[in-house]
Amino acid sequence: MFNRLEAPGQDPILSLALAFRDDPRPDKIDLGIGVYRNSEGVTPIMTAVRKAAVELAQTQPSKSYVGLAGDEQFNQSITDLLLQGTAGHARSAAIQTPGASGALRMLADLIATARPEATVWISRPSYVNHQPVMEGAGLTVREYPYFDVSTKQVDESAMLEQISQLGPDDVLLLHGCCHNPTGADISMESWQRITEMAVKQGFLPFVDIAYQGFGDGLHEDGSGLRLLADAVPEMVIATSCSKNFGLYRERTGAAIVIGEDLAQAQKAKAHIQRLARGTYTMPPDHGAAIVAKILNEPALRAEWEQELNGMNGRINHLRAELVSQFRAATDSDRFDYFGQHRGMFSVTGLSAEQLQQLKDDFGIYVVAGGRVNVAGLSEQAIPRVVEGFLAVGA
Ligand code: LMR
Repeated sequence: MFNRLEAPGQDPILSLALAFRDDPRPDKIDLGIGVYRNSEGVTPIMTAVRKAAVELAQTQPSKSYVGLAGDEQFNQSITDLLLQGTAGHARSAAIQTPGASGALRMLADLIATARPEATVWISRPSYVNHQPVMEGAGLTVREYPYFDVSTKQVDESAMLEQISQLGPDDVLLLHGCCHNPTGADISMESWQRITEMAVKQGFLPFVDIAYQGFGDGLHEDGSGLRLLADAVPEMVIATSCSKNFGLYRERTGAAIVIGEDLAQAQKAKAHIQRLARGTYTMPPDHGAAIVAKILNEPALRAEWEQELNGMNGRINHLRAELVSQFRAATDSDRFDYFGQHRGMFSVTGLSAEQLQQLKDDFGIYVVAGGRVNVAGLSEQAIPRVVEGFLAVGA
């Protein structure tokens, strides 16, 4: 049977992580996979997460099954975190999923169940897993213009022009904040325009918010999403606790559906539960139990928010350092985009040849397409990154 298989293409992010691991050079620099690292180069377990995990280990009465929707207290808390204060909040239903990729797939399967002819529009470029997940569910994928590599900003007029053509058979996939891979976010004016168009034209907004808290703050990063949730009749959201709780390997995320009324949202949730049963049955509990505990215990929650703000502050400090050291080395402002972008990533516009040279000559690993994970940098590595970038002609 398996002799019929061709070798599959490699995932550009995960294969780079393996190549980095196997590189023996001690001064290698990993700007690839999206993980936060502290100044010691470690991806830390957040203090509130460790406390909650220790307490759960001592008090959790059982490891028996939880249920197809996962932890319902987690589902409620994560929905409140995103939708509190919006009209859509009371018409929403959520299911816990294995990470945001699990949520993306469950929501894509739901859309394919409801409207198999739907086209999902993703930004050009978008998170490398968006297209495979959507196509895996049998949906058609097309791209809308997004990033202008010459300005390193969003080409908002081209984006809005394409979105103005969408209709009821279309799904518009948006990044809630901290756009992956580019780091360039859309303005609040564009969120407003997209909201008006969604209401008028009837396309389904699908927001992937995997980095809440890594842009301008936990509440601020949900501003665009809340504009939509306040106005549109239907919407779906994929969210993740990988980054803002540092629970990467625990695969903790949620799929949220806003329906025209609560009964429709709950019906959609029942469909997702059936879809989950047909794939992984139910999500792992550990990460969701930790998050539910943190979000519902004020002292833990305050500690978590403070640490998250600290991580965010460190990323912005690294961005500022990149800007100032590039300015000093080039006497120009052409790297100022590092300071304008938000979240973990920036797209640099480096070519495949330049990336290869960076890897070969400097041991600097950057994802294909030129995405740099600023959150993975250390202060000491910045001068070498500047040197390497300039040496390859950035
Ligand atoms: C990334 O974009 O680097 C992360 O979200 C890891 C992943 O799942 O691809």
